[in-house]
Amino acid sequence: MKINEHDYYSQLANWSFDEINYTSENFTNWVYEDEIKKHAKKDSKILDLGTAAGEKVLKQFPECAEILGTDFSEEMIKAANKNLKEQGRKNISFRVMNNLEMDTPDSYFDIVTARHTVIDPKQIYKTLKSGGYLIIRGVDQLDCWSLKKMFNRGQAFYDKKPISLLDYEAVLNAGFKDVELIPLHVIEYYKTKDDLYALLLKVPILDNLSELEQNEEYERIPIEKDIFEQYVAENTNEKGIKLIRRYYGIIARK
Ligand SMILES: C[S@@+](CC[C@H](N)C(=O)[O-])C[C@H]1O[C@@H](n2cnc3c(N)ncnc32)[C@H](O)[C@@H]1O
Repeated sequence: MKINEHDYYSQLANWSFDEINYTSENFTNWVYEDEIKKHAKKDSKILDLGTAAGEKVLKQFPECAEILGTDFSEEMIKAANKNLKEQGRKNISFRVMNNLEMDTPDSYFDIVTARHTVIDPKQIYKTLKSGGYLIIRGVDQLDCWSLKKMFNRGQAFYDKKPISLLDYEAVLNAGFKDVELIPLHVIEYYKTKDDLYALLLKVPILDNLSELEQNEEYERIPIEKDIFEQYVAENTNEKGIKLIRRYYGIIARK
């Protein structure tokens, strides 16, 4: 059955990994959540794009004057509003918005954040105040590369240029100053095969998604059990089943 990204996320209606047992080791000291805390002040207004069910905003974002979380999935926003009610945090709201068709006011936000979601830096530039910050974290092309190579497919596997460079250039072209691109190296260890399998079912790592074909429908190929077992056999040590992650951070100022 074919699916597009919107329906994929809507069917999940959460972006929580609490049920998966894994540990991670960071090899770089740039931490997305810390950058947000560092730049936010009591009177800051923050926009979080692709917020999912608000998991990060509700648990990790600092107290400030206003936080708006948006997502193009109505189901995610429904879940975010439910989570907000349960947590009772103040000055936070959620609503549906497509990151590529933003309708937020011009020169309004002090910080725009976007973690593992598509962005249009020109539209973000418009909605930021002068001196405001864009802070993003993305999943780069080489993420889980040895796994993707074994399966001969996966997110950005066939892209000609890494998404980190495309984003970096787009942020520069939008007019941002002091643009920094930071490679983030992380190794994750999954406790059991079931934990790794649950991750691969939930996250589209092995789907042939390209950043440039967002709305295209695609086929989710079932995970081939024999290749999965081979990956586990070759990547297990005393810490668990190893998965090498490649993320990137971008910080820029209007
Ligand atoms: C990988 S999840 C990341 C969620 C959250 N930012 C986090 O880091 O936990 C990607 C989210 O971006 C949303 N998304 C993808 N494309 C979008 C678009 N064009 N406009 C708005 N939201 C989008 C999805 O619905 C999903 O909730």
